[in-house]
Amino acid sequence: MRTTNPEEIDFKNKFSLKGKVIVITGGMGLIGRAFTEACLQFDGMVMIADIAKAEPEKSAEKLNERFEGRVAGISIDVGNRKDVTNLKDETLRKFGRIDGLVNCHQNKTAKFFAKFEEYQDEDWDAVVETNLKGTYLTCQIIGSYMAEQGSGSIINMPSTYSVVAPNQNLYAGTSLGCPAAYSASKGGVMALSQYLATYWADKGVRVNQITPHGVWNNHEEKFEENFSKFSPLKRMSYSHEVAGAAVFLLSDASSYVTGDNVRVDGGWTAW
Ligand SMILES: NC(=O)c1ccc[n+]([C@@H]2O[C@H](COP(=O)([O-])OP(=O)(O)OC[C@H]3O[C@@H](n4cnc5c(N)ncnc54)[C@H](O)[C@@H]3O)[C@@H](O)[C@H]2O)c1
Repeated sequence: MRTTNPEEIDFKNKFSLKGKVIVITGGMGLIGRAFTEACLQFDGMVMIADIAKAEPEKSAEKLNERFEGRVAGISIDVGNRKDVTNLKDETLRKFGRIDGLVNCHQNKTAKFFAKFEEYQDEDWDAVVETNLKGTYLTCQIIGSYMAEQGSGSIINMPSTYSVVAPNQNLYAGTSLGCPAAYSASKGGVMALSQYLATYWADKGVRVNQITPHGVWNNHEEKFEENFSKFSPLKRMSYSHEVAGAAVFLLSDASSYVTGDNVRVDGGWTAW
């Protein structure tokens, strides 16, 4: 609205997702589940897309007991073009439109944490295929639909380690680590997101990123202890603390925000 008078604006309503259809890939994951719940609580409709093993359909059925038909689930592999096309078609069949796309998937292979010197090509390929190609495919197939529609909001999820190197001391005394395949694939996600932000700006499609950091998932005690030492906020985060950024970026409250990266990292990259 073209005005200088803030009294004309219903600010609370700007954060509403009522009438908005949001696709969340990796919607069965730690953060994806928090995003799904938050979008539903803000009155949106959600298509949960995840691998078959995660049973997204079952979860949608359960959520519909509370959210009355505003959730659907679909089993897909984001790295497969046919699956992603089917995701778009099924979402349109079920809800009639798509307003938001959140790329919340990631692939952790069995040997994900292997040392760089010993990393296997098939693990590298699998991580890049899901993390980067999967984001490319959903952006291309669903983003193109949005561009034609003339509106939409895309959120991609890179990593702190797309821009800074992991502090290896963080992993001392733990079984964890951050493989180069993860950093490299997420660096690609970041570059792709920046590219698309300007590429589709004139089509009304906003493309932003959320970078969570150290989201607690019953981590080893030693890791949590190490993390607290290096974090300005001196603790790990919780998935619900990341979800507010998604609601903001998907809603009309962020209508002038594109090409941004909301770092929900407790200040990790501030020092
Ligand atoms: N957890 C963190 O601290 C953190 C930090 C920075 C960035 N991120 C990013 O945020 C996103 C969500 O993280 P998370 O912790 O919830 O991850 P997660 O591992 O809990 O969830 C990832 C989801 O992706 C799904 N998935 C895997 N392969 C898939 C495929 N081929 N097709 C469709 N779905 C697939 C998994 O089944 C899972 O449900 C990821 O992209 C991750 O890289 C997370």
